[in-house]
Order: sequence, then C-alpha cells, then structure tokens
Amino acid sequence: MFISMKSVSAIVAGICLGAVAFQAQAQEPTRLRDAAEGLFLIGNAAPTRAFSDLIASDILAQDFNRLTCENEMKFDATEPQEGQFNFRAGDTLVEFAQKYGMKVHGHTFMWHSQTPQWVFQDSSAPNGRASRELVLKRLENHIRGLMTHWKGKIDSWDVCNECFEDDGRVRAAGGFGGNWRAAIGDDYMEQAFKIADKVAKELGEEKVLLVYNDFNMYKPGKVQAVVKMVNDFKAKGIRIDAIGMQAHWQSNDDPSIETIEAAFKAYAGTGCKIIISEMDVNTRNGFRNSGRGLERDDSVQGNADSSAEALAKRYADLFDLFVKYQKDIYAVTLWGIGDGWSWLRGGQPLLFDNNLDPKPCYYSVLKSLQKGQKELKK
Ligand code: G3I
Repeated sequence: MFISMKSVSAIVAGICLGAVAFQAQAQEPTRLRDAAEGLFLIGNAAPTRAFSDLIASDILAQDFNRLTCENEMKFDATEPQEGQFNFRAGDTLVEFAQKYGMKVHGHTFMWHSQTPQWVFQDSSAPNGRASRELVLKRLENHIRGLMTHWKGKIDSWDVCNECFEDDGRVRAAGGFGGNWRAAIGDDYMEQAFKIADKVAKELGEEKVLLVYNDFNMYKPGKVQAVVKMVNDFKAKGIRIDAIGMQAHWQSNDDPSIETIEAAFKAYAGTGCKIIISEMDVNTRNGFRNSGRGLERDDSVQGNADSSAEALAKRYADLFDLFVKYQKDIYAVTLWGIGDGWSWLRGGQPLLFDNNLDPKPCYYSVLKSLQKGQKELKK
C-alpha cells in the first residue's frame, strides 16, 4: 500500500477503506514492479534526496526494479577535477538498489552537457586545447574509474548520449553539443564504445550492456542514422548492446503510436535491445518536451493540460505498445517519481503528483502491465 500524506491521515482517522479494497483483490499484482515481471524491467530516475524521503523510497522499492541516477553518475558529478573521483552520491543509489534487489543503469560516460571544461583543456598546449590523444586518455581513465568502482553493481551504461541531430546528422564539431567530436574527431562515438568494451573486458564485466541513448529517437532521420551507426559498429566488431529511446514525449498523439512502432521495428532489426530510458509526458499546450526541457512551441496543441484522464489514456496507449514489443524491450524507465521533482517544471508529466500520491496514469500503467502479464502467461 502507498505511504502517502493522504493514506497516512486516512489510516490515522481509522478509515481504512482503501486497504480493505486493496486486500480484497490481492490476486492481481498491485504494484508496477510485480505487474511488469516477465515483460521488461521497470525503472525510475532518482535524485539523491529521494533516498532520505520515506514516501519516495517506499515508491522506488515497491514499484521499480531498476534505478538510474538523474545526475549523480554524470561526468561533472563523478570527476569534477582530473583524477579526483567522487562516488558518494552514486553509491547512495547503488546501495539502495542492492538492498531492494534492483538493477542499476549508469548514466552516462560521454555527453556534451555536464562535462567539466578541464576534459578539453591543456594549459601546456599553445592553443590551450587538449589533443585527441589526451582527451581519449582522459575518457578512458574516466570510464575505468567508474567501471572499477561499481564493478559487479551496474547492469548497463549509457556510453554516448545525444550525439545526433533530429535529421540524423551527427552534431557538428563546432556547434552546440559538438565538444567531444571537436576534441576527438569524427570517430568519437566509436572510440567511446571501444574503450568501454575494452575496460569491461579487463574487469570481467562483459555482461554489462553498452547503450547508445538519445531523445527524439522516433524521428525518421534519427532512426535511420542510429540504425546505420549500429550496423556499422557491428560490421567493424564494435560492441553495442542496446538503444536507449529517452521518450520525453507529448500527451497528445505526438509522437503517434505508429511512429514509435516504426522506430521499434527498425531498432529491433539491428539485434540491439531497446530501452525506454527517460520517459515523461508533457501535458502543457504551447510547449514541446524536448531533450532540453519544455520549450515554447505554439504548434503544440491538444495536450491533456490538467486532464488527468487524457494523460492516463496516453500512458496506457504507450504501455500497451511497450507490452506488444516486450520481446524487444529490455527496460522502461520513468524520468522521475513525482511531478514536483520533475525537470519539466510546472507540468504533470509523471505517474505521481506533487504529494507523491499515485495519479490516474499510475493505475492505467498498472492495468496495462497486468493485462500484458496475463497475455504472457496464457
Ligand atoms: O547541483 C546544482 C546545485 O548545486 C545548484 O544549487 C542548483 C541551482 O539550480 O543547480 C544544481 O544543478 C542542477 C542539476 O540538475 C542537479 O539538480 C542543474 O542546474 C540542472 O540544470 C540539472 O538539470 C538536469 C539536466 O539533465 C541537466 O542537463 C536534470 O535534473 C536532469 O533531469 C536532466 O536529465 C537529462 C538527461 O541526463 C539526458 N536526457 C535529457 C534529460 C532531461 O534534460
């Protein structure tokens, strides 16, 4: 049962109606984690403060079996100065996950954002910029530092995050998001995957999944480009195990179920697992949920706004699709617990409200998983 402000006061008042109803239908799994069993892993992204919050920790332990650090395993958090690693915040999440039998997804080795400037600098170079060799050495040292510290405790790592434009071009070396490419060269993603695989082998961690992760992964140009990259990697013998679709989506039909389905088919065709890695659903008209946050976009209309029912339907449609593709989908991760903690300020994108009480979309997801599990058992 949920420990929430509402339920606490209901129990105190002796009105245990919810609990009675809950026990009466105890046959069906009543939490997401149990309902998703056999289908795919079900995850959440948590900031450190979640683990000292009674309600948040209870939700994480009961509803989810996979955790991602929202920020705490990123480059700036784990190696703010060269060679000076800080694992404290990441450890908090990993310890919690181990206690409750959850898998951990590592996010992320290489990303244009939240990477400290020292990575690209060299005060001894005439132009102050670090050479390709030096940046590759630093990347390897970073990957080795993280993989060694969390050896045996991480199930999958985002090796590269958000390297493609929506039309499928790799982000330009001199443009926004092109810092790693500018420093290493056009083969920067290839190099990152090679290093991650090499270090994993050294540590006997070959089972750790190596993932490419990005937003807008349903856009045809991006789908084509990522599929091509994966196929190229495979042809060259470079290991890549999974494709992460962030799934920062809209509550209206954007992207449509058909569009997402086409992307699933294309990604599954590469032989990679699919991970829905950062799911949340924008409810605000006039704003688009992009990888950069809620951005003003007047063409975005027809969102659910405050209609909890419309959001519940959208979540149900999406989870029905995930269930349909459960053979190809390894995990589905929600990007946060309650709306009040979401990076999408002022929206209602998640399964729990500001008080961390479950919303109608929580129950529609639960129902969709229950249905999927029944189908599976037939
Ligand atoms: O840690 C500082 C803190 O010291 C300071 O007092 C505070 C003041 O604003 O800022 C804190 O840093 C914030 C950080 O989250 C930790 O809370 C940053 O300002 C804020 O920009 C940062 O936002 C994160 C964002 O990535 C950064 O790009 C979001 O929480 C996080 O949800 C978001 O996650 C990304 C994924 O990693 C990649 N895909 C897109 C997704 C959403 O943007």
